[in-house]
Amino acid sequence: MHSFPEAYQLYRDQQGAITFPAAPESLYGAITYFTGYSGKQIRPVLCLMANEVFSDIGTDAYTVANALESFHNFTLIHDDIMDRSALRRGQPALHVKYGESTAILAGDRLLIHAYAQLNQTALSYRGLITALFSDMACKVCEGQQMDIDFEQMEVETVSYAGYLTMITYKTSVLLGAAAQMGAVIGAASDQEQMQMYAFGKNIGIAFQIQDDFLDAFGNTAQMGKQAGSDIVAGKKTALLLKAFERADPQQKRQLKETLKYAGDAKVHAVIAWYKELGIDQWASEEIARYTETAFSNLDKINVPVHRKEKLAELASALLVRQS
Ligand code: IPE
Ligand code: IPE
Ligand code: MG
Ligand code: MG
Ligand code: MG
Repeated sequence: MHSFPEAYQLYRDQQGAITFPAAPESLYGAITYFTGYSGKQIRPVLCLMANEVFSDIGTDAYTVANALESFHNFTLIHDDIMDRSALRRGQPALHVKYGESTAILAGDRLLIHAYAQLNQTALSYRGLITALFSDMACKVCEGQQMDIDFEQMEVETVSYAGYLTMITYKTSVLLGAAAQMGAVIGAASDQEQMQMYAFGKNIGIAFQIQDDFLDAFGNTAQMGKQAGSDIVAGKKTALLLKAFERADPQQKRQLKETLKYAGDAKVHAVIAWYKELGIDQWASEEIARYTETAFSNLDKINVPVHRKEKLAELASALLVRQS
């Protein structure tokens, strides 16, 4: 069984084989720019590790892993346009460097690359893998639209349940699908596939709440993304919704006034509210709670403990991530 760093290295070693055409250089150069600054690569590595719970890591697991990361990169490039984010992975976002039109096309091209990869998997499960992928991709679009819709809505009109649906769709289903597809390639039973999906999905919920937490309490240099950007953009994050829920009527009025501020003044004032209302502590507990649920999903998978302990280690490591 490979640990996360080992599986990460295995995945990286395969990456050299993936090539794009040379021309037009303005498009493929932009893609090379973006993929050159790779991120944590959690989704592809999760696919490899889920696969290894049931079998040796197969060639198709690498192919699907590549499709997953390519899809993820597509979503990030478009997300930075939607969120007006200028910094990604410590570098200017693709639309900042190459313009919005090229960023839209680079994202589209990476999405197409993902499907081309899926089309190379074994015929026996290609249909299933493609259907799972498409279902996941639809939900990501729906979750992203909910995120954008929530931005314009008053804080009291967005429920925490609605938020959980939004992050499940925009973020968690991709981790769920990564884990499930690894299981499919490993010839896991339907039930094992579903548990693996649930494991990935619950890790994904914890992952997005942590992302919201780091956006407020993290460090721009460490994250490679602009801290405070959710507050400036009016995102309805877990932190904001919980702060509003915890505030008494007078605090609610004050907090709503604070939300009318702009820029750094808004960031500092909202973070002060989070601290005042104990939201940092609450977020850590909420992240731990979803990670615990993920552990219980993993427990239900009927394989010897040594086959799945590395996945549990990965879930624990994500709890303390700073980027
Ligand atoms: C960022 O994902 C988008 C979210 C779903 C929060 P990652 O934090 O995995 O980004 P990279 O790939 O490591 O840069
Ligand atoms: C990202 O959510 C979800 C997708 C890209 C689909 P965020 O907008 O919070 O991600 P970051 O913080 O920009 O990476
Ligand atoms: Mg976003
Ligand atoms: Mg964003
Ligand atoms: Mg974020």
